[in-house]
Amino acid sequence: MAGAREPIHISILVSGGGSNLQAVMDGVADGRIAGARIGLVISSKEDAYALLRAERAGIPTAVVGKSGYPGDDERAERLLGLLSAARTDMIALAGYMHVLSPRVIAPYAGRIVNIHPSLIPRHCGMGYYGRRVHEAVLASGDKQSGATVHFVDEGVDTGDVIVQRAVPVLGGDTPETLAARVLETEHDIIVEAVAKVVDGLREAEGKHEK
Ligand code: GAR
Repeated sequence: MAGAREPIHISILVSGGGSNLQAVMDGVADGRIAGARIGLVISSKEDAYALLRAERAGIPTAVVGKSGYPGDDERAERLLGLLSAARTDMIALAGYMHVLSPRVIAPYAGRIVNIHPSLIPRHCGMGYYGRRVHEAVLASGDKQSGATVHFVDEGVDTGDVIVQRAVPVLGGDTPETLAARVLETEHDIIVEAVAKVVDGLREAEGKHEK
């Protein structure tokens, strides 16, 4: 783990477009996320646009897909090896469409955050990701939705909430229009939440050094 004067090393896990990854990269670059650097981006898909965003920013990347490993344990070991080699202090799941193995969570407990495109505990848990979340919100008749950044524990979308923000559901919304409104808010709260967790880790490590 990084010492008090070293930046917090963040590893980011992605699966798709990577607009939340971009928000975190921008937040680190412009100082809204202070005292941190992004050391590694891992994608579950080799054609994820998020990988290009990372490469353009000079951030090392890796792909750990669903196939190519004999089983879940081997995939978890590969992830742990990459995270350790990048001297990871904190992990952000930014549009990562898989449930992280308990083997990966354990050594980083309290240091993993996830962004989910709804007001947890509404429309979350197994099977609720991406467009499906927005379809469920519209089907429910909810008048508002939003986004949540929370700590990752061994459940699915069950960890403590770090930042949550609502947006209205408008008459005539489609899953696409609602997703776009929620995504805009995601980009703000993921920066706020990562900054908050980084500050907490730096404070804890500062105290530890004294
Ligand atoms: C975001 O809306 C994120 O909240 C969601 O996938 C999208 C990824 O967009 N994540 C989940 O549904 C996870 N349960 P991005 O790749 O542009 O950041």
